[in-house]
Amino acid sequence: MGCGFPYTCRLETRKIVLLIGLILVSVLVIQHFELPYGNSLLSLLSTGKSVLIFYDTNGEDNGDSGLKENFMPESALEMYHNATIETIGKHIGLAPESAIDTLESVSDISPSVTYREESDALRNPRNVVSPPESVTLQSYSPLSSTLKVNETNNFQGSQNSAMNSSPPQKEMPEKAIASVLSISEMYEMLLHSRVSSFSKRPVWSSSADQELFDARFQIENTSIIRDHPGLYGPIYRNLSTFVRSYELMEQKLKIYVYRDGKRPVFHQPRLKGIYASEGWFMKLLEASNRYITTNPGEAHLFYLPFSSQLLVDYIYVPDSHSFHEIIQYLKNYLDTIKGRYSFWNRTNGEDHFLVACHDWAPAETKKHMANCIRALCNADTKESFQFGKDVSLPETYVHSPQNPSKEFEGNSPSRRKFLAFFAGQMHGYVRPVLLKHWENKDPDMKIFGRMKKASYIQHMRNSKYCICAKGYEVNSPRVVEAIIHGCVPVIISDNFVPPFFEILKWDSFAVFVFEKDIPDLKNILLSIPEKRYVVMQQRVNQVKKHFLWHNSPVKYDIFHMILHSLWYNRVFRLPPL
Ligand SMILES: *[C@@H]1O[C@H](CO)[C@@H](O)[C@H](O)[C@H]1NC(C)=O
Ligand SMILES: *[C@@H]1O[C@H](CO)[C@@H](O)[C@H](O)[C@H]1NC(C)=O
Ligand SMILES: *[C@@H]1O[C@H](CO)[C@@H](O)[C@H](O)[C@H]1NC(C)=O
Ligand SMILES: *[C@@H]1O[C@H](CO)[C@@H](O)[C@H](O)[C@H]1NC(C)=O
Repeated sequence: MGCGFPYTCRLETRKIVLLIGLILVSVLVIQHFELPYGNSLLSLLSTGKSVLIFYDTNGEDNGDSGLKENFMPESALEMYHNATIETIGKHIGLAPESAIDTLESVSDISPSVTYREESDALRNPRNVVSPPESVTLQSYSPLSSTLKVNETNNFQGSQNSAMNSSPPQKEMPEKAIASVLSISEMYEMLLHSRVSSFSKRPVWSSSADQELFDARFQIENTSIIRDHPGLYGPIYRNLSTFVRSYELMEQKLKIYVYRDGKRPVFHQPRLKGIYASEGWFMKLLEASNRYITTNPGEAHLFYLPFSSQLLVDYIYVPDSHSFHEIIQYLKNYLDTIKGRYSFWNRTNGEDHFLVACHDWAPAETKKHMANCIRALCNADTKESFQFGKDVSLPETYVHSPQNPSKEFEGNSPSRRKFLAFFAGQMHGYVRPVLLKHWENKDPDMKIFGRMKKASYIQHMRNSKYCICAKGYEVNSPRVVEAIIHGCVPVIISDNFVPPFFEILKWDSFAVFVFEKDIPDLKNILLSIPEKRYVVMQQRVNQVKKHFLWHNSPVKYDIFHMILHSLWYNRVFRLPPL
């Protein structure tokens, strides 16, 4: 068919040209936006032969891709050896030449490391490299294996020093080789649990479940905000989701508290001492009009109101070295409420929670209360702490119940004349090592044994970094004390999950040092540029509000943050409907 009239013909041609142009533009646009996906698809395909996919992820992005692969640590190590040099170089961000060095040092060290570890494990059951019970082997082994490789070689120095400078390579102390998780790996595990581990579907559903489900939808679909009154964005993992989740908690959360349970173990908060956070939580929750409901039908959570400290004082048989009596006591209590009410059976305890600060609480509750959300001070990935379900409870040393948290104006950075400070009793195995290396060794390092309280506080106010070395167990009141005094916490406690881990971006205001790196402590701290230090110190001041108790709780304080973590975990543990 010809063009009858030249004009119409030109019109047709123009239309066609326009059409072609449009197609061209859309192809370009699609390509532009698709490119990243194409790339990540490629890299996914090419990493089939190495575990190093992990080195890409640093906790900020979700990168749980590597987690899905299933192999045992040994084979992972082997795969590592087999990986091409280029792959390694790429993944650890080194030029090819240095990648060769690194690879060689891997082969030098790893085999002996592995043997030593095995024999150690046989001798001392505590050193056995085993996944925490809570974590499935499948999700755990790739992590622990990659870590072993990293640790033995100190590839990146310390990501824990929150910096990129690597301290000098050191001989590995034998004991540190056991699988130690870095903060970013813990976050990987948390993210992984969010997409892979859900509680069981309730036997029958309730309106509360529907509300939790709606809340999840709203949190995930929240609009992105850059700032929010009273909250300082950079200290949160995701300010938008935290703000939304917190608002929804305020609007919706209802908790049922069992009236059953005899005093003093139940319903009798102890408000002083280093385990006081469980007592303060109990006291404030039971007094709360906003969050308590007497109608279990509308409850999202059920509280088991016992004190782990009073269990030790009243139920533990002194010198028995056995948790048996305590475990039995709690089991009898559970059997009572299981028989008397239907709530436990509805979810098999998954909407029940406990708040326990004593060191022994994980051991006492890991069997019969394994399904509950457990808020624990002793938040140790090796002691059955389960990411995504359990909550890391802050340990706060309360001296005066009338005034549970004194708010200090910490000194400004320029007036902090000591580099680092620690004082405390020689509990556990880490502190003696710390003192051996640093007590009276260096005028910048104020590292002591016991010290009077007034002097202790003076040191916290006058030091840039406060060393929080683990005692018998992973947590220590120092973490919160440091924050309250405006001192940047330096946490030396392998596998400790810091408080409010779901919400707070700990490596933005604290430093994490592996136990094995104690000899390098000063170098690690000195490698942090002054500018970065000042930023961290400002953030410590911003995060302080989340760690203060008030006789009448205030928004975003420690009481509400604990409550929020319980709520948040329940919201995200509910299986998709
Ligand atoms: C291992 O090292 C890489 C490269 O330095 C680092 O990005 C990664 O976070 C580390 N991961 C582990 C497994 O510690
Ligand atoms: C925060 O969460 C929202 C909702 O899930 C998401 O869209 C956003 O990308 C997240 N922001 C960051 C910084 O990760
Ligand atoms: C909200 O999230 C769900 C999945 O969680 C998704 O299917 C839906 O498209 C999202 N809606 C909006 C408005 O982003
Ligand atoms: C809940 O289940 C247990 C057995 O697991 C049973 O003994 C108890 O009677 C049940 N409770 C109720 C209220 O049905």
